[in-house]
Formats: sequence, C-alpha cells, structure tokens
Amino acid sequence: MFRKVLEKTLAVLKIYLFAISFLKIIVIIKLIELKTRMGKIRVAIAGLGNCASALVQGTHYYRNEKEDQRVPGLMHVKFGDYHVRDLEFVAAFEVNQEKIGKKISDAIWMPPNCTPKFSEVPEIKGMVYPSPILDGVAPHMRESFHCYSESEIKSINIAEILRETKSDILVNFLPVGSEEATQVYAQACIDADVAFANGIPTFIVSDPSKEWPKKFEAKGLPCAGDDIKSQVGATILHRVLAKLMLDRGVEIDKTYQLNVGGNTDFENMKFESRLKTKRISKTEAVTSLMPHDVPTRIGPSDYVPFLEDRKICYLLLEGRKFGDQPLSIEVKLSVIDSPNSAGVMIDVIRALKIALDRNVAGPLISMSSYAFKHPPVQIPDFEARERVEAFIRGDIER
Ligand SMILES: NC(=O)c1ccc[n+]([C@@H]2O[C@H](COP(=O)([O-])OP(=O)(O)OC[C@H]3O[C@@H](n4cnc5c(N)ncnc54)[C@H](O)[C@@H]3O)[C@@H](O)[C@H]2O)c1
Repeated sequence: MFRKVLEKTLAVLKIYLFAISFLKIIVIIKLIELKTRMGKIRVAIAGLGNCASALVQGTHYYRNEKEDQRVPGLMHVKFGDYHVRDLEFVAAFEVNQEKIGKKISDAIWMPPNCTPKFSEVPEIKGMVYPSPILDGVAPHMRESFHCYSESEIKSINIAEILRETKSDILVNFLPVGSEEATQVYAQACIDADVAFANGIPTFIVSDPSKEWPKKFEAKGLPCAGDDIKSQVGATILHRVLAKLMLDRGVEIDKTYQLNVGGNTDFENMKFESRLKTKRISKTEAVTSLMPHDVPTRIGPSDYVPFLEDRKICYLLLEGRKFGDQPLSIEVKLSVIDSPNSAGVMIDVIRALKIALDRNVAGPLISMSSYAFKHPPVQIPDFEARERVEAFIRGDIER
C-alpha cells in the first residue's frame, strides 16, 4: 500500500519536474528571441519600387558608419537608440510578377526599378508577397508595373503576413492615387498592431476628419505622414526660397514649380486624375507659408522616359521689393529622385520605433512636420528639425 502511494507520488513529481523544465526551456527560448529582437526594427514595405530600392540600399550603405559620423542624407547615424543597421526588412508587398516570390534583396533589382545601384545588398530573407491590386495600378500602368493576373495569382492577407513576420513598422510606397489600397494597408497595420509611415499623398495621418489618426491612437500605435519630403527636393527648396523672400519683406506675386522625370512615379502621374492629392500636398507645402493667396501652379508636369530616375524641377518666384521694384528668382534643380527620400524615411522609421518603445500613439507631430509634405501641422522646417531633436531626447512626447 505504502509502496503504491510512494510510486504514485514519484510519478506525479516526475511529471511536475518535467513540466517545470519544459516551461524553463520555453522561457529561455522566449528570452533569447526577445534579446535578438531588441534593438532591431522589423520593417515591411508596401510597393517595392525605386524608393524602396534606395531605402534598402541605403540601410546597407551606411551600416558600418560610426555612431557620431556625419553622413549625407541622415539626421544621425545613431538616431536615439537606433543605428541605421538596426533596420531589418522582413516583408514586402507587390503586384509585379517579377518581384513576387523573390527575396527583397533580389526583387529590388527587377524592372521597372531604375534607381542607380549605389550599394551591394547582402541576402535579405524577407520575401515579396502578392498584394491586393485595388487602385494601386492605373489602367495605363498594368504593363509597366508587370502586374500579375488575378486569375493566376491569389493575393495574401496583409495583416496576417505582418503578424507572421513580426513587423514593427509598415512603410507605404504605393503609387500616387492609391487611395483605397493605402486605406487597406493602414487598416491592416491597425489590425496587426504595426506602426505606419505613409510616404505617399493619401491623407491618413493628416486626415482632415481625424478618423484615421483616432484609429491609430485608439490602438496605441504611432503613425507619421503624409507624402515624404525629400532631403533636398523641389518642395523644400521652394519653401526655403519663399520663406527667404517673405522674411526679407518681399511681396510674392506669383510662383510655379514644374517637375519632370522618367521613372514610373512620373509615368503613373501622366494623367491629372491620378495626381489630385499630389498636387494638393505639394501646393499646400508652399502656400501654407504665404500670408495671403498667391497665384501658384505646382505639380508633376511631364514624363520623359530617358530621364529614368532623374528628376528636374523648374522654380519661379516673382515679387516686389522696396519701392515696388520687381524681383524674380528662377532655379533649376536636378536630382536622382528616389535616394532623395530614402534617408529621410530611415529617420522616420527610427522615430516611429522610438514612439513604439515609449508607448506614444497617434500622429508623430514633430517627425511628420519635418519629414512630410502634408503633415497634420505645418511648421517651418528649421523649427520642425529642432522639435525632432527634442523628441529624440525625450523632451517632448511627440
Ligand atoms: N523622392 C521620391 O522619390 C518621393 C518623394 C515623395 C513621395 N514619393 C512617393 O513614394 C511613392 C513611391 O515612389 P517610387 O518612386 O518608389 O514609385 P515606383 O513606381 O517606383 O514604385 C511603386 C511600386 O508600387 C507597386 N504597386 C502598385 N500597386 C501596388 C499594390 N496595390 N500593392 C503593392 N504594390 C503595388 C508597383 O509595382 C511599384 O513597384 C510614390 O507614390 C511617390 O510619389 C516619392
């Protein structure tokens, strides 16, 4: 009898000890997983076009820079706790059948991407998944984007992939005019608990009805947007020149900003119907500085295929100075378009990760004003940069 009780007790004890060791192993595995993830930023990208290629290339280009080194195109090599090399690209979403099913490190070189190769990119395990097409592809872009046929390829569930790949942040680089598709991606972020960086002029972070900002806030997720402002592009140059004239007491009477380029971003915007929000975003970025209405024309003006990823911008500002005497400034800016926004996006991604770490939810005001053409609040550029520095230090919440 006593022997039987002893045997039973020993059996229970064995099971108990086995369960404890099993739990210990799970806890150790989880801790290792957490440690390797800590300090890393898991990034997913919607639209693996030229901007995405430059973003991925730039992350590797600067991966060995010293933390305090000044490099072109980044606010800091180490931004808060995050070095450039802490970005990991874990998933991308595309409609291009040459890119779908490939590793991100292979897909960025596929046509029609045409931004220059400025960095060797080692193997990235993150894969390219078939995205829902929605309004991402205008009828005239089906061929250029090598768009898949819906009868042959089935699109994935975006939120599911974001969860599976443990993405922290989704960057939206869809074509201009992807209103519905952008909303689908924003909602997927909310469903999968992922922060959102909106590189395009669909008004999510600056949504005038505040519906989207409220949704992100309610879910405890930060967002930044809308429409990325390039490092030195047409928008910031136009803003700086307008501000210079206004600060020096010049009355601005009229201004234009005409842009031409040869990449698919420009090809997509060949039709006025496609670029409505781009015109609003670019125009408001400049007119928001003016004390009164000024005749203004701003926007993409033509697609010149042989320019490829080169963009040319023509600026004119006409006004009057002392004694109503005329003054006019004309400028031509020529840039390689896509890398111009990539460094800015690397800073945005790191600001969003800091916000995630600090449980800051809703629009990041400082970063949105600094890095986007159509933020929730327009702030002069130098002041916006100061505010981003204050955000990094933790002096201001957002
Ligand atoms: N400096 C800049 O280049 C700059 C500045 C501000 C804003 N932007 C904006 O960033 C966006 C990306 O620019 P880009 O030059 O990389 O354009 P791109 O044409 O090279 O890339 C867009 C990519 O989106 C893919 N796509 C189309 N529909 C899709 C869908 N439904 N789902 C997933 N992918 C889809 C296309 O196949 C293409 O690869 C554009 O909206 C552009 O206006 C760029």
